[in-house]
Amino acid sequence: MEQIQVDNKGVLGSISLADIAALDAAGKDSLKKLIDGTGAGNDFLGWVRLAQETPASLLDDINATAAGMRELCDVVVAIGIGGSYLGAKAVIEALGNSFAAYRNEGVQVLFAGQNIGEDYLAELQDYLAGKRFGIIVISKSGTTTEPAIAFRLLKEQLEREVGRDEARKRIVAITDEKRGALRTLANSEGYKTYIIPDNVGGRFSVLTPVGLLPIAVAGFDINALVDGAAKMGEATINGTDTSALTYATTRNALYRAGKKIEILVNYSPKLHFFGEWWKQLYGESEGKDHKGIFPAAVDNTTDLHSMGQWIQEGERIIFETVISVEKTEHELRIPSDESNLDGLNYIAGKRVDEVNKMAELGTRIAHIDGEVPNIRISIPAITPFTLGQLIYFFEAACGISGHILGVNPFNQPGVEAYKKNMFALLEKPGYEKETEAIKARL
Ligand code: PA5
Repeated sequence: MEQIQVDNKGVLGSISLADIAALDAAGKDSLKKLIDGTGAGNDFLGWVRLAQETPASLLDDINATAAGMRELCDVVVAIGIGGSYLGAKAVIEALGNSFAAYRNEGVQVLFAGQNIGEDYLAELQDYLAGKRFGIIVISKSGTTTEPAIAFRLLKEQLEREVGRDEARKRIVAITDEKRGALRTLANSEGYKTYIIPDNVGGRFSVLTPVGLLPIAVAGFDINALVDGAAKMGEATINGTDTSALTYATTRNALYRAGKKIEILVNYSPKLHFFGEWWKQLYGESEGKDHKGIFPAAVDNTTDLHSMGQWIQEGERIIFETVISVEKTEHELRIPSDESNLDGLNYIAGKRVDEVNKMAELGTRIAHIDGEVPNIRISIPAITPFTLGQLIYFFEAACGISGHILGVNPFNQPGVEAYKKNMFALLEKPGYEKETEAIKARL
């Protein structure tokens, strides 16, 4: 197996090898807690062996459902938010054609329920009108407001356009086995359903049907994705791959040295949403008890022309983690031009990616010189297998990192605060006291 490489030499101007080694025992202990299930949040460790233990029959079933949806639909809308959205979006964007976001036998997968944008939803309804569309509605709790609104709207539209019986064939619900409004609704309508395991939290759920069904509908190889994660999982658990440990200890050593912000950097636009997925994973897992590295992300070289100045010369509280992709899928050379009016002939004949790689290297050196520590994570190429590896790598490192930090990496009590206020303001039944209290503050 080609492994993910973590190169942390680029941090040595800011911290020493000894600073990182000082966290080695805590890192190993944290990994052991994940493997043995003895740390805080151990009810949510289903992801640790999820890929290794995914039955072939489940993958077959998901692939068959995806094939069925592709036959009935030209567009499928995946409805969900947070962990019920970002993993599928990240993988589909990474693997898809930049201008179509699906390929092979796949159909277009659009997303809804990840915001409450009235224009977004109205324009989506316009786009879907008259098209053969289907819906995958995803909510672990089954009660989240954003996807519930989107589902109510699109379900009504679909039933109006094709009738309730046909709509039923084009809707799949992914939710808890027993609890929640979505489970009740799905059972009463007789939708095909998949279960989100109790012990897998939303942001760790991309390799459950939550991510796998939309990814399969879009035409990508979920077996290879799961295989990549399974291989990475085995190697992490049996200690033959220590990359997650290295990443976790290095970033915690940087945090202790005052580096409060981590920027995940990509040099491939296909990885933009991978950065969004990563931000949720680390932000929700670590930002608690008034602690935690703030996770940010940039797309280079695009953002070198916007955020580059801040990163190079702003406050020195940041470090960066670069996801470096060794090989692109396509080969494109810069043509020679006789007149050379643009002065580009000095790179004529070179691959576009060679230029990108020099931009990456030049930036790395400039940032290290500018006291921005740099961790480089390299993968051979963007494939379903390597994305599976990368997903497991970041999940494992996140669990280890959260334990080193001393927080429960698997809960997210803070996300309830806005919901409570929103329900109070909307006068949701059961929130009468909160409504009264919040109105008094307005
Ligand atoms: O990681 C999490 O648990 C959250 O981000 C959830 O995924 C998100 O709030 C959506 O929740 P649900 O799937 O219950 O609708």
